[in-house]
Amino acid sequence: MPMMDRVVAWISHERCTCNKATDYWERYDNKKKEIAERERLEEESRKKRERIERLLGNSGIKKRFQNRTFKNYEIDQGNKDAYRNSKLYAENFQRFKETGEGIYFSGGFGTGKTHLAVSIALDLINKGTPVICMTAIDLLAQIRKTYDKDRNVSEYQILQVYKEVDLLVIDDLGKEYCSDWAATMLYDIINDRYERCLPTIVTTNYDDEKLVDRLARKSNYETAGAIVSRLHEMTMGITMNGKDRRKERS
Ligand SMILES: Nc1ncnc2c1ncn2[C@@H]1O[C@H](COP(=O)(O)OP(=O)(O)OP(=O)(O)O)[C@@H](O)[C@H]1O
Ligand SMILES: [Mg+2]
Repeated sequence: MPMMDRVVAWISHERCTCNKATDYWERYDNKKKEIAERERLEEESRKKRERIERLLGNSGIKKRFQNRTFKNYEIDQGNKDAYRNSKLYAENFQRFKETGEGIYFSGGFGTGKTHLAVSIALDLINKGTPVICMTAIDLLAQIRKTYDKDRNVSEYQILQVYKEVDLLVIDDLGKEYCSDWAATMLYDIINDRYERCLPTIVTTNYDDEKLVDRLARKSNYETAGAIVSRLHEMTMGITMNGKDRRKERS
């Protein structure tokens, strides 16, 4: 072998092919692939977070909600299962992300639905997961704003972040005035996430049946039914029966 070829062979670490070395190189290659994949996912998450920040700012969580964490959630007999399941959900989010399973928090006013949903969102945001957490009213308002002439963000861009974010939290579903347009938008977002198998968390005062009525407003029963049917399949239900903590405080 000429001198130059020998040098190149040495620099490129020609691999020994004995059994022990083959095992070693296999593990080495797998580890390298694993690191590259982790870096790719981290970069993807970073880009998504930047896009959310640019288009919506602060993941959509308003100031009043920023301190609704697991830490300051008071546990009582009525909410301990809801608390435990929400905490487990946040801790095992990667598993739920793979299956696309979300949560359907339902129950009366002031029972802690939003507090738990926001606690999950904040916990994941702190770990670097891209999350959007907004009321259904704000979520629709962000789309509507894109129709302003001087806005250089398109409806498509906003819809894409709702459709692609790792976790979408829709707070207070059913409270919005649900015109045909609003029902179609909500269907588009939820159906897309359903098809992509991405998790969605919903909080609402209504059970399945009542939510269909709220979303249909007498004219969109098919769309409303399709939304609720998908949510049913995409989420585990957590029903909150506790006291109204707002009343308790006043
Ligand atoms: N277990 C709890 N520990 C501490 N604070 C709580 C708890 N449950 C609710 N709260 C507080 O009570 C207020 C109302 O709770 P929250 O907004 O979560 O209710 P909700 O079920 O979403 O009500 P609504 O149906 O009206 O939206 C909030 O300030 C929240 O932080
Ligand atoms: Mg709420």
